[in-house]
Amino acid sequence: MKPINVGLLGIGTVGGGTFTVLKRNAEEITRRAGRPIEITVVADKNLELARKVTAGACRVTDDAFAVVSDPDVDIIVELIGGYGVAKELVLKAIANGKHVVTANKALLATCGNEIFAAAQEQGVMVGFEAAVAGGIPIIKALREGLTANRIEWIAGIINGTTNFILSEMRDKGLPFAAVLKEAQRLGYAEADPTFDIDGIDAAHKLTIMSAIAFGNSMSFEGVYIEGISKLEAADMKYAEQLGYRIKLLGITKRTAEGVELRVHPTLIPAKRLIANVEGAMNAVLVKGDAVGITLYYGKGAGAEPTASAIIADLVDVTRMHTADPEHRVPHLAFQPDAMVDLTILPQSEVITRYYLRLRVEDKPGVLADITRILADHQISIEAMMQREPDAGEEQTDIIMLTHKTREKSIDAAIVRIEALPVVKGALIRLRLEELL
Ligand code: HSE
Repeated sequence: MKPINVGLLGIGTVGGGTFTVLKRNAEEITRRAGRPIEITVVADKNLELARKVTAGACRVTDDAFAVVSDPDVDIIVELIGGYGVAKELVLKAIANGKHVVTANKALLATCGNEIFAAAQEQGVMVGFEAAVAGGIPIIKALREGLTANRIEWIAGIINGTTNFILSEMRDKGLPFAAVLKEAQRLGYAEADPTFDIDGIDAAHKLTIMSAIAFGNSMSFEGVYIEGISKLEAADMKYAEQLGYRIKLLGITKRTAEGVELRVHPTLIPAKRLIANVEGAMNAVLVKGDAVGITLYYGKGAGAEPTASAIIADLVDVTRMHTADPEHRVPHLAFQPDAMVDLTILPQSEVITRYYLRLRVEDKPGVLADITRILADHQISIEAMMQREPDAGEEQTDIIMLTHKTREKSIDAAIVRIEALPVVKGALIRLRLEELL
């Protein structure tokens, strides 16, 4: 049967992996797809690299715009990243009637509504399995495998760099800055790791999962984002003593008042499987009303894991290429005319549990002052621990875990607690999820 032709934009790590895996597994992929999938042209600014990787197997150009207008190309694989030229190329490819497969989470989270509307209009597919959690088929699971369910919540470790850093901080008791430096030396973290450590990369991925889970439009601007750069090794140690681990989680939850969308360091019970996901691995928990909790685990980045997701999309597109667009799997799981604009809850209205750490003078009445303020705000304490002061030390750390409370109540209590003369410096506040 006539092959389906692919134009690949960007032959960096993931592009190279896609080229390699498609070639290595060509025979089985063809048997699955029903026809050969061939990369016929690669566009990259670095022509020398493109020639080296492709080794004469296909055409090479530095003009990506020519590729998206090439009448012989059926599918564009966009691996350029970002929302500048990549957006122009994706929209041009769609306008030219080409299907698109992309790993570009930033583009979809911020411009996805426009891109999917354009694709719908043109009757083309946009595959994006590789945009969330690399090789883990989480988009497939949410969009198809769990389609019977009313999804209640998703909580995921969806950034490998930060999970690696947190694992090292916990294992070695080292401060954030030292571990980040080491991660950069080992090539785990980018030279500019801002998107990873500030939680933005995780927020992009969370936005995409939330849209598919709830049939909501992409709402990146509604995500509450807190990264890991202020985390202290001391909190990891105290969390451990209380039976918890700290992970950077992306959480989206459907509540009666609206949808929660938040990325922040989170205490989770150490006995949960997801608490034991270490190093650069990713994992996503999904709670559906029928199935209960399911867990998806694997590599969230890297050449071949990401290629695995890209090629899965290529096979899907190839199988559905000739199908009536009305009968394909909808881009965002729900039929386009059945998408809704759900209210995104401001973080101040989110209800969760909290970990509080305070440095206080070690003298009578201190705890009473603090608990009185918490009681005034209807905040109930679930557990408490006080570090034994060293000999001669006049200050100590108090660590408290609260029951569920609304974020604005804890914020108001923190302002009052920090103003107490016996409390020294800023209070450390982290969120806690049971994930049940
Ligand atoms: N930088 C991401 C991570 C991988 O560290 O998980 C690509 O999304």
